[in-house]
Amino acid sequence: MTVSNSPAIDRDWLGLKNRVAVVTGAAGGIGGEIARELAAAGCLVALLDRDEAGAAAIAAEIAQTGANAIGIHCDITDPDNVAAAADIVATRLGPCRILVNNAATLYADALMNIKLEKWNQLLAVNLGGALLCAQAFGRQMIAAGGGSMVHLGSISGSLPQPYSGAYSVSKAGLGMLSQLLTVELGGDGIRSNVVSPAMIRTPLSEVIYQNPEVLRRREEIAPARRIGTTRDIAEAVLFLASDRSSYISGQDLKIDGGLNQAWLSLIPRPGFEKKDTE
Ligand SMILES: NC(=O)c1ccc[n+]([C@@H]2O[C@H](COP(=O)([O-])OP(=O)(O)OC[C@H]3O[C@@H](n4cnc5c(N)ncnc54)[C@H](O)[C@@H]3O)[C@@H](O)[C@H]2O)c1
Repeated sequence: MTVSNSPAIDRDWLGLKNRVAVVTGAAGGIGGEIARELAAAGCLVALLDRDEAGAAAIAAEIAQTGANAIGIHCDITDPDNVAAAADIVATRLGPCRILVNNAATLYADALMNIKLEKWNQLLAVNLGGALLCAQAFGRQMIAAGGGSMVHLGSISGSLPQPYSGAYSVSKAGLGMLSQLLTVELGGDGIRSNVVSPAMIRTPLSEVIYQNPEVLRRREEIAPARRIGTTRDIAEAVLFLASDRSSYISGQDLKIDGGLNQAWLSLIPRPGFEKKDTE
């Protein structure tokens, strides 16, 4: 899934050279790819994750390409951890100008069963952690004259995903957090946007796609007729992180191969059923 540094891609148009970028959850499938792509575009990248070894391994892989990347252990639910990570970033790379709030967790359960403790734990990561990072790295952006925040939402933030416990709720809340950041920090030169993926093939979700029938049915339901890749997400994040999107703020970009538009095609129309699924 590593696709960075392809000579066919011109990333200079993004104007990201030497910009300091922080990616949370960077040891994961999507976060790792975003970090690789930011580095390939010339950013100095800090990879934050509670999985210290995972973040360090990807940082080392990026450094092999000649780019500047550091892995930092950080549990984003811990204010002291986040403050310490922010200090390391400022000292070793400079003030953060790009924050990618990507770290998240998913605990599946029915609303009738879920324990409040589990509910709160998930919100502490997916929502509270995003706020703590926006505060710590937002302060650096304010002092540096501006920046861009990109938060990883999900289409389940706008469409209820049953039995996902607090996950859908957390992603809906993240969307409002981003809109509030847009309004409260816009005057400081900070933009805030969400990208909302659906059906992305990552090491985490790979087990789902190992089942050929599930793969076929998931491919069939998306108008793009394929499962998304981490690269699909990273490209959009880079655009929103860069000044090429300098008048875009408070938006939620759905990266779902058109899935959100497909619901009415599920309703059979006599004479066209076959065409709809071909
Ligand atoms: N994969 C998909 O299909 C999909 C779909 C919609 C949205 N998303 C969103 O994209 C983002 C990345 O997803 P992914 O599939 O790469 O997941 P992933 O599980 O591969 O990566 C998540 C990373 O976050 C880290 N993390 C979790 N809790 C943390 C904490 N408290 N502090 C620091 N790090 C923590 C994990 O260690 C992991 O490395 C998430 O926000 C997820 O909700 C993914």
